[in-house]
Amino acid sequence: MEQHYAWRCPRERLLTHYDTHLGGRHLDIGPGTGWYLHQATYPAAAPEITLMDLGTNTMAMTAGRLADRNITPEVHTGSILAPIDPTVGVFGSVAANFVFHCVPGTWAQKGKAFGHIAQVVAADGVFFGSTILGTGVQHNLFGRALCALYNGPIKVFDNSADDPGGLRTALSAAFETVDITVVGTVAVFAAHRPRRIPAQ
Ligand SMILES: C[S@@+](CC[C@H](N)C(=O)[O-])C[C@H]1O[C@@H](n2cnc3c(N)ncnc32)[C@H](O)[C@@H]1O
Repeated sequence: MEQHYAWRCPRERLLTHYDTHLGGRHLDIGPGTGWYLHQATYPAAAPEITLMDLGTNTMAMTAGRLADRNITPEVHTGSILAPIDPTVGVFGSVAANFVFHCVPGTWAQKGKAFGHIAQVVAADGVFFGSTILGTGVQHNLFGRALCALYNGPIKVFDNSADDPGGLRTALSAAFETVDITVVGTVAVFAAHRPRRIPAQ
């Protein structure tokens, strides 16, 4: 409901984003309840899925849901603000859907995560997702009230200063090609051609 009335970006729009970009070997950062991964249309009959989150609860929930799609995901606990363990390998697609409005800091600080993600996206792969913007978009009353609550007393968001231009700058530091569409107050993005840091 929030997604529809407050942020004005229907989940079907984001499911289409998944269906468009999912690769056969996929890393999902912050999978939440796993709804998108459960509903998605995969390009391969037996997709290889890895989940990454701060804690194990959401990954256990997502893994449980994926069992009825005959998918057994790998799980990796960690924060995207730290480098990703290179032993996880590289992925044709990496998603962070509705994650970055929860990540603390400015776009310059959140952008460190984009640098980490670029290291695990295949040269011909994609990093895609969405994030609720705090500024530079037109929030309605419901959205403004929820943003104030979630950035204030219920500290689950940190997006007051998140604008579309800052997102583009931060993504472009880590990827050569960046595409952002704003739907309601949500930036829906896809980034290609990762800028890899050469191995030392
Ligand atoms: C709002 S939920 C999004 C859930 C799901 N992707 C969706 O679209 O329904 C945000 C998720 O991001 C995870 N998350 C937040 N900060 C993170 C970080 N620094 N590193 C990894 N995951 C993080 C949270 O634990 C949570 O699972």
